[in-house]
Amino acid sequence: MKRSVIIQGSSRSHGDTSKIVNYIATNNNIDVVDLYTKNIGHYDYDYKNEGDDFIGLITHIVETYDTIIFATPVYWYSMSGILKVFFDRISDLIRIHKDTGRKLRGKNMAMISCSNHDDLKKGFSMPFVESANYLSMLYLGDIHTYIESDTINNEVKLRIDKFIKTISNAI
Ligand SMILES: Cc1cc2nc3c(=O)[nH]c(=O)nc-3n(C[C@H](O)[C@H](O)[C@H](O)COP(=O)(O)O)c2cc1C
Repeated sequence: MKRSVIIQGSSRSHGDTSKIVNYIATNNNIDVVDLYTKNIGHYDYDYKNEGDDFIGLITHIVETYDTIIFATPVYWYSMSGILKVFFDRISDLIRIHKDTGRKLRGKNMAMISCSNHDDLKKGFSMPFVESANYLSMLYLGDIHTYIESDTINNEVKLRIDKFIKTISNAI
C-alpha cells in the first residue's frame, strides 16, 4: 500500500477540520501533520527563516509519502492562512532546495475543505489544481465537508467514504 499523509491546515488542532481529518485518518490508517503545531514563517525573499520547521517537514514528507491530502477550513472563501503560508514556502524548493522540490514530481495531491455549511464557492480548488500542475503532481480531486453541531453527519461520512474509495489506489 502506498503511504499517504493528511496535512491539516486549521488554526486550531482540535476543531472542525480535525474531526474530518481524524475520521479519514483513523478509518484508513493515514498519517497526519498538524501545521498548527509547526513553526513555519511566511515566505521570505532572503530566506531569513531557513531555520524554522519548513524544510525539515517537507523533506520528511517528500521522502516518506506518495500522496499528500491537504485538509483546510474555509476561511474567507479561501484556504486557511496557515496552509497558504505552507504553499508559499514551497517556493523555497523551487529557488534553493531544488533537489527536495524535484521529489514532489509524480506525487499525488488531493484536497478536503471544511466549513459549517454545504456551500463551497466556485473556484476554491483552483490554487490546489494549479499548484499540482505547476509542481508536476497528479491532482486526484477534492471534496467539501461540513460540521454541524460539532458532528459529522451521515451524508458527509458517505461523501468522504466515497471519495476515499475513488482515490484508494493512491493511498
Ligand atoms: C477566520 C475565519 C474565516 C471564516 N470564513 C468562512 C467563509 O468564508 N465561509 C464559510 O463558509 N465559513 C467561514 N468560516 C467558518 C469556518 O469555515 C468553519 O467554522 C470551519 O468549520 C472551521 O474549521 P476549524 O475548526 O478547523 O477552524 C470562517 C471561520 C474563521 C475562523
